[in-house]
Amino acid sequence: MTSGDTRKRVRHALPDVRWPTREEAEQSRWFSPCRIGTRVVAEQRTWVPAMVPWRATEDGFVTPNVLDWYARFAGGRPGVLVVEATGIRDITSGPLLRIGHDRFIPGLAQLVETVRKSSGGHTRLFIQLIDFLRVNRRPEPTKFFTRYLAVTPDLRRALADAVGDTRCLDAPEPEVRERLLIADRRVIERVLSPRDLESMDYGYRERVWDTHLPHIRELPRVLPELFAEAARRAQDAGFDGVELHYAHAYTMASFLSRLNTRDDGYGGPRAHRVRLPLEALHAVRARVGEDFVVGIRYLGDEVVRGGSDLDDAVWFGVRFAEAGADYLSVSKGGRFEDAKQPKVGEAVYPYTGESGYECMPTVISDEVGPFGRNVPLAAAIRAAVRAAGHEAPVVTSGGIGSFELAEAILERGEADFVAAARQTLADPDWFLKVRLGLGHLVRRCEFTNYCEGLDQRHKEVTCKLWDRDVDPGDPGVPLASDGKRRLIAPPWMTD
Ligand SMILES: Cc1cc2nc3c(=O)[nH]c(=O)nc-3n(C[C@H](O)[C@H](O)[C@H](O)COP(=O)(O)O)c2cc1C
Ligand code: SF4
Repeated sequence: MTSGDTRKRVRHALPDVRWPTREEAEQSRWFSPCRIGTRVVAEQRTWVPAMVPWRATEDGFVTPNVLDWYARFAGGRPGVLVVEATGIRDITSGPLLRIGHDRFIPGLAQLVETVRKSSGGHTRLFIQLIDFLRVNRRPEPTKFFTRYLAVTPDLRRALADAVGDTRCLDAPEPEVRERLLIADRRVIERVLSPRDLESMDYGYRERVWDTHLPHIRELPRVLPELFAEAARRAQDAGFDGVELHYAHAYTMASFLSRLNTRDDGYGGPRAHRVRLPLEALHAVRARVGEDFVVGIRYLGDEVVRGGSDLDDAVWFGVRFAEAGADYLSVSKGGRFEDAKQPKVGEAVYPYTGESGYECMPTVISDEVGPFGRNVPLAAAIRAAVRAAGHEAPVVTSGGIGSFELAEAILERGEADFVAAARQTLADPDWFLKVRLGLGHLVRRCEFTNYCEGLDQRHKEVTCKLWDRDVDPGDPGVPLASDGKRRLIAPPWMTD
């Protein structure tokens, strides 16, 4: 929620839960199988959605820590595990996993093998494919005015007007820059275009509708092939499928957004906004064939002013299903448009404003609270997809951390899979514990987002609950690079 949000916020207690007996779990919907696409059957409707843990090498390769992270999740034997957002381009992206070249295949194949082994072959494994545009860190004002800001005739005119000095119209560029550097905020706000002002206050950020930039104009030409090749590599590495990341703050979500004003047939009306996401889906399908799962994660609501809402999402969902998407995973928010201002030297983080809150809701919430908050979006999309005669399963997520809630969602037909990100981070074994009638042993997520704060700083993601009994002196406990936190969840102790 943004600071301007006037809704009353209260702290919600974690609800008391009743865990099922082993027999109840065995007969439940959540632990029953579900088909995804033509060939893949998930043994359960439990699902771990993508979570970036910041454990890859600086050049995007799988590391032993990446393997440990996924082995730990696989040990809980979820029906489906989706590997973190993985970059489809062959460009430097920091410690984000990458799949933009064949040299990444051996590491990813090792990851597949690790999950197979750790889950005893019970978990189906997909990988999320992401493309994103450039987001610069918020600059030092001096750097911004002396290096980044373009001194155009319009800017000179605006400055001359604002300071009442016509010499600004033809003064040498360094003088204009110097003048801006010492100007007060009121002058700066009058002189800079809204976009330049944003670049100064938040850092420069590209939009998919910046078609004056050749590489942005070309996106519809290059992206389908990039997604198709990435999917082919995922198939070669042995994954069961791919998830096309059309959600949150990234390229494809921005094509789908109502804010997308491209005038080249890929922006404006819905039918144009969905065109590139569909072209990428078709390209991927043509490359990997019918048997390989191709799912889509996208937004049920952007939660930003002027952005797409549930109406758009329902319409997109039907288009995706009729175009052959094997599943639809519905998320919410997580956009840049309403993100908080970053500190100088840091990049804007799309999970900070109201849209960010809706993506990963915490217990400090409005009267609805965080638990299962986003289910109505998935329910509406699922109803429309079914009414149109399509069978693609729908996945819901957001504040789900109990068997009862998951089971009720399935019982009401609001989704086909119930996903849990943070609860599974808190306790990777929880699906197995619940399935075995040992729910009382579940380490329950507190939904206070310590983990998200680590993600924001690109630090190795861990859960605060893991550190309750960490002994940094114990050589058997692998620690994060700060030497203070347990790097993987503690082993499951039954005594
Ligand atoms: C540390 C962290 C990293 C995440 N990374 C991704 C990601 O790579 N791709 C994605 O679609 N969602 C990502 N998410 C969002 C989750 O998949 C999920 O939608 C969100 O946390 C809400 O579900 P939950 O309430 O069960 O945690 C991330 C969430 C967390 C906490
Ligand atoms: S750090 Fe907090 S919000 Fe994140 S998984 Fe752990 S308990 Fe849940």
